[in-house]
Amino acid sequence: MPKKETRPSKDLYRELRLVPWLRLWQEEVPRYLASSPEEKIQRVALIRAIGAGFSEADQPTLKEPVRQWLLSLLQDPAEKVRRYAMTALPKIGAGRAEERQLLTLLSKTSADREKKFLGKALEKIGGHATLDLIRTQGSSLPHLNEQRAKANLARQQKPSTIRLTTPFSDIALLRLHLRCRTGLEPILSDEIKALGTQFRIMEIRPGLLTLAPTSPFTLEQLYSLRTFSTASFLLGTLPKSTSLIEPLANLIASPLSRSLFQTFTDGPIRYRFEFVAKGHQRGAVLQIVQRAYTLCPDLLNDSREAPWAIEVHPSPIGDFVELRPRISPDPRFPYRQQDVPAASHPPLAAAMARLAGPFPEEVVWDPFCGSALELIERVRLTGVRRILGTDLSPDAIQAARANWSAAHFPGISAEFVPRDFREFEKITGFGPSSISLLITNPPLGKRVPIPNLRGLFDELFAVAAIALRPGGRMVWINPLKIKPPASSLRLEFQQTVDLGGFTCRLELLRKR
Ligand SMILES: C[S@@+](CC[C@H](N)C(=O)[O-])C[C@H]1O[C@@H](n2cnc3c(N)ncnc32)[C@H](O)[C@@H]1O
Repeated sequence: MPKKETRPSKDLYRELRLVPWLRLWQEEVPRYLASSPEEKIQRVALIRAIGAGFSEADQPTLKEPVRQWLLSLLQDPAEKVRRYAMTALPKIGAGRAEERQLLTLLSKTSADREKKFLGKALEKIGGHATLDLIRTQGSSLPHLNEQRAKANLARQQKPSTIRLTTPFSDIALLRLHLRCRTGLEPILSDEIKALGTQFRIMEIRPGLLTLAPTSPFTLEQLYSLRTFSTASFLLGTLPKSTSLIEPLANLIASPLSRSLFQTFTDGPIRYRFEFVAKGHQRGAVLQIVQRAYTLCPDLLNDSREAPWAIEVHPSPIGDFVELRPRISPDPRFPYRQQDVPAASHPPLAAAMARLAGPFPEEVVWDPFCGSALELIERVRLTGVRRILGTDLSPDAIQAARANWSAAHFPGISAEFVPRDFREFEKITGFGPSSISLLITNPPLGKRVPIPNLRGLFDELFAVAAIALRPGGRMVWINPLKIKPPASSLRLEFQQTVDLGGFTCRLELLRKR
């Protein structure tokens, strides 16, 4: 966004952003073109509004005319108009022609402010030509940085990806950090043990398990664990010193970091850098990544679409510096084709499924199934014969059906019914004692207030007591510390779990 914008220009920009983009393009732009040079300066905010609104407007066929218009504005005699055009151009996805024009302008202008804005635009869209210029003219160009230009070029030429199936062998001192929702540590720890001896658990802290691999491993093996939220490699622990620039840069460019990057990246190595709990810290970050680049010019800091993140996590024993693959979408949950507004956190759904444990000829019901994550995660653990999902919302049922079909479990009978859970007994083929597992993340009353949540759960307990067969289980998220009547369901497991800013109880009840 252009700085030092005058107040009226800012106000006009806000006004224009409220107007549908197409109308701006079809009505305001022609009016702008027909206006006098003074009026053009007064209405310069239109250029910004066209650039900022373009991607939201979803008008791909207009990209070329918009691009041509912005390019023509780079020739405007008024410096302010040119400046607004150079800020808007990167927003519409500019390329080589724009780079050439910006570089021509840069060679002509002597105005510092214009140079600064040209530098900023080239920082976003610059490629080969910009890199050549930096290499020949060096630091005389404000806001142009070799690392950024190389990262741009790398991003444009080959989008890098994370290799899931290449083994990493340099495991001697390697430590992995698996983060999970606080409270899920015992379930994650059981899951790691159930995988075999591939990873040894070294330490368990709230929300964080430290592992050591016992033999070469692939990310595919690591991502066969489903109950962690994020996985990263520990590059080191920071000393409590005054300047962190040198220690951080050394860790980023360390032999361990390079080895991990090289093994697991297909394409140029780009990473974003973040202090997880300390805000942006732009100045410090720039110095750190610049120093790391000097130490190892193959590692490019890039905040856009980078396949890696290097993160500094606070810790009482010295902050952890971690290297995290950014694999999106999460390869563990490819079946998530459709979503609902209150969908469960997928690793939590996986943890609930594990907590349920096995049961012969399992018949599972999720009365508040939403997008069906708990049901699908339970089916993945085998032993399930039949599932039922009910939800009041037809959209949720549609999402559940789409996800179930993407999960592809051909031999298992599945029904998704748009119903209130209280109508369970009216669903053909189900009745008293027909269910072996009721698994659910119910409405928690957080996003959508529920008038009588306690009453709803009393009814849920009553329906569960009828639907479950003797010995059948109910695994659910209890937001109210509410208890079932002692005569019907017995509490077997309870753990307070962080649900992302608030806590609930994860419980396992069994029908007497
Ligand atoms: C927290 S969401 C469930 C999310 C789900 N586990 C998932 O992963 O997508 C709760 C769901 O309960 C549904 N719901 C609320 N009241 C209901 C009722 N009386 N009977 C059935 N479904 C209900 C809502 O439509 C919502 O989809």
